[in-house]
Amino acid sequence: MPVNHLLLFQSHLIIEFNMNSKPDILVIGAGYVGLASAVFLATKGYHVTVAEKNDSTVSQLQKGKLHFREQLLAKNLKQVVNSKKLQVSLPDKKIYQDSKIIFIAIDSANQSSWKMRMGSFTKIAQWIGGKKHKNAPVIILKSTNIIGFSEQFRKLLDKTPFGEHIKLVVNPEFLREGFAFEDTVKPWRIIIGSDNKNDAKPLLDIYKNIYSSKIPIVKTDCKSAELIKLASNVYLAHRLAFIHEIADFARLEKLDVESIKKGIGLDQRIGLDYFTPGLGFGGSCLPKDCILINSDESKNSYKFESAIGAMSVNEKLIKNLIKNLIKSLGDLRGQKITILGAAFKSEIDDTRGSRAVVLAQALKKRGAKIVFNDPYLSKSEKLIAGTFTLESDLNKAVKASSAIIIGTPHKKFKSLKPTMLAKKVKLQFVVDYFGLLNNAKWEKQGFKFI
Ligand SMILES: NC(=O)c1ccc[n+]([C@@H]2O[C@H](COP(=O)([O-])OP(=O)(O)OC[C@H]3O[C@@H](n4cnc5c(N)ncnc54)[C@H](O)[C@@H]3O)[C@@H](O)[C@H]2O)c1
Repeated sequence: MPVNHLLLFQSHLIIEFNMNSKPDILVIGAGYVGLASAVFLATKGYHVTVAEKNDSTVSQLQKGKLHFREQLLAKNLKQVVNSKKLQVSLPDKKIYQDSKIIFIAIDSANQSSWKMRMGSFTKIAQWIGGKKHKNAPVIILKSTNIIGFSEQFRKLLDKTPFGEHIKLVVNPEFLREGFAFEDTVKPWRIIIGSDNKNDAKPLLDIYKNIYSSKIPIVKTDCKSAELIKLASNVYLAHRLAFIHEIADFARLEKLDVESIKKGIGLDQRIGLDYFTPGLGFGGSCLPKDCILINSDESKNSYKFESAIGAMSVNEKLIKNLIKNLIKSLGDLRGQKITILGAAFKSEIDDTRGSRAVVLAQALKKRGAKIVFNDPYLSKSEKLIAGTFTLESDLNKAVKASSAIIIGTPHKKFKSLKPTMLAKKVKLQFVVDYFGLLNNAKWEKQGFKFI
């Protein structure tokens, strides 16, 4: 790795100075988490290499182009690529073996089997532990892993020729998509788990350099850090499941969801943040982490019922929504339903774990024809293409529809004109579980909210 070295000859003494006191950094995985950390470190003057297994992502990033919608991250990425502070490459044994600070930020659990990607971790351990190091490198587990994973990874390292001395730290990430860079620059807290006193020192030195001393750091052991991460997401999932269930009941009884939400959330012990009903909780983290906390691979005998409960409320919500739709529309076979928004939350283009997509799948099974419109997704979007029609022209998307469903509360949908839409649709039914639209205005044009 490029470092400025100065060799000073003093009689028999050769002293080696590292002119660049900042260690070079390797980040494995160029997703939201890996890139946000890598780009931030690069803006702080570190030389960062990002190793990414996906060829097309690598070539796009090498041009300074981000492959997902994160505005501030995109802007900063361009700058650090141009200034050569950040480099992107395919995984490379030599880069791994020459690195002293290594963040692992891959999507560590398979999203269909929910098993840890042990093959990837074994290869990473073998590469890094395959070379003798004068100063042991530190591996920082940034991805979300099952409880006890660091112990399993330690065993993988210990099996390699020189892995025994490698330092290991669990430093989970809490960023919110849509604010990936903002949250990385100014996190609410930092969790650092390590089982040996000195393992975390290199990371703490970096964080001292880049973060204000006002940001709280919780230092703990590896397993506690793993639990903190999963438990935080289970709590958030549970909180969302709670308000979704209350809203579901309120809708059934024709009660005022908005005032009920406020009436509960204004209690300062409860709060209104992260307390908005919708189609359930989705994304690539909350549902996954509700499953990972009860993973068989953890070998814990404990069962986290709160995680199971949150997931079951999430499923109930979609089932009830479909029942409500059938009540109004009758048999769904052959009926066109337009879903506005496919991303799992507003202002982003990530459809992983999207509840709008889950709903679309369930409706499709009942014979409905689904058309999506999303301002941030192109026709080539992989998750949608081939499965559902993604229509970028809103007029075409709603034409002859039996129902319009708000799938993602993108701000753009707030300004939809019911007068114009009323002329296009076949039946005037609307589903807006987010409370995004002005009901009175829509009802005036003949729309009925389900
Ligand atoms: N996205 C979030 O909001 C968020 C927030 C906090 C924590 N996390 C956790 O952080 C981890 C990463 O999340 P993400 O959203 O950045 O994932 P992501 O899927 O966006 O990115 C992961 C990247 O790693 C690459 N990759 C996978 N295996 C690799 C390997 N062996 N070598 C090199 N590259 C490899 C993938 O190709 C992908 O580009 C996950 O465990 C996730 O649960 C995510």
